[in-house]
Amino acid sequence: MTYEPSKERYTKIEYNRCGNSGLKLPPVSLGLWHNFGSVDSYENARDLVRYSFDEGITHFDLANNYGPIPGSAETNFGKILNEDFASHRDEMIITSKAGYDMWDGPYGEWGSKKYAVASLDQSLKRMGLEYVDIFYSHRPDPDTPIEETMDALEYAVRSGKALYVGISNYSATQTRAAYAELAKRGIRCLVHQPRYNMLDRWVEDELLDTLDELGMGSVAFSPLEQGILTDRYFKDVPANSRAGSANSPFLDADEVNAKRELALALNEVAKDRGQTLAQMALAWVLRRKTVTSVIIGASSTQQIADNLGAVKNTVFSDEELARIDGILRSSTVSA
Ligand SMILES: NC(=O)c1ccc[n+]([C@@H]2O[C@H](COP(=O)([O-])OP(=O)(O)OC[C@H]3O[C@@H](n4cnc5c(N)ncnc54)[C@H](OP(=O)(O)O)[C@@H]3O)[C@@H](O)[C@H]2O)c1
Repeated sequence: MTYEPSKERYTKIEYNRCGNSGLKLPPVSLGLWHNFGSVDSYENARDLVRYSFDEGITHFDLANNYGPIPGSAETNFGKILNEDFASHRDEMIITSKAGYDMWDGPYGEWGSKKYAVASLDQSLKRMGLEYVDIFYSHRPDPDTPIEETMDALEYAVRSGKALYVGISNYSATQTRAAYAELAKRGIRCLVHQPRYNMLDRWVEDELLDTLDELGMGSVAFSPLEQGILTDRYFKDVPANSRAGSANSPFLDADEVNAKRELALALNEVAKDRGQTLAQMALAWVLRRKTVTSVIIGASSTQQIADNLGAVKNTVFSDEELARIDGILRSSTVSA
């Protein structure tokens, strides 16, 4: 059936400015790491993108290696774009990344210019795009000079293959170095994509202050700790969940079982706030303005609907924050 986007799509959420740039992003973005690969249902993947767009989500986060098989999320997303969004490209922020293992040999991962440029070309081809909106260095490379990796990002912008560039998983010190190297070349380092959620708070040590100082935005990935900070595992580990599925090596049943009590304790705070645990977990990440957007994953449109409810209340009282901190501190498994 031909897809017609909802006419109400821009009346539902407020958009956040990314650092001190001109770019605005939705507070909730959709990530395509899981549930969009060649092993997944294409119809469901298409529904997730359509539903997101109808609800005002304009930002779709990909990377060269998302699948499985690696690359297949970009291929599927390209098909969805072609079938449904051909006349809406200018309403979308589409991102990709290079840094992790993608193909065999010395030029298939890390931070060389050779790898990053080839990878970006491959991503564009898979998605059928002329440019991505943001191209990221997916992880810092300890063995490649930062000048070279930033040279690749500069090339991405100057060649017109990316409108903006960003970095992911860089420490505060590495962020300063990347920012300075790009600034020297007249290129803005727009955004940092760090892992941030209630159970992983490393960005609070130094990174968020650094981003404020540099005027960069941030988009937080795995804000729900891959589903642990939702009701997904309250009772058991469903066979169709990430922890229950053979397709994801990144989360297993032991980990979710070990964190169930913690999730249930946090859910009591969420209930008192009138939120689901997922909504509270996202609101908690969004409570600081430095976080422009949370990038969620989802396997159903109901999950996206639940998660969008988070933006209705992102304010926490000191008492609520102290209660959450107390629960996290008292847990032996929170770190
Ligand atoms: N830069 C990087 O290095 C990096 C690394 C990882 C991820 N990312 C990006 O961040 C995105 C999100 O990561 P993530 O998928 O780990 O995020 P997440 O939002 O922490 O976890 C998503 C999973 O949680 C479950 N879920 C989501 N909403 C739910 C709800 N309301 N109720 C119950 N369960 C719910 C779903 O699990 P089920 O599938 O089991 O239903 C979903 O797949 C990725 O797609 C990717 O774009 C970037």
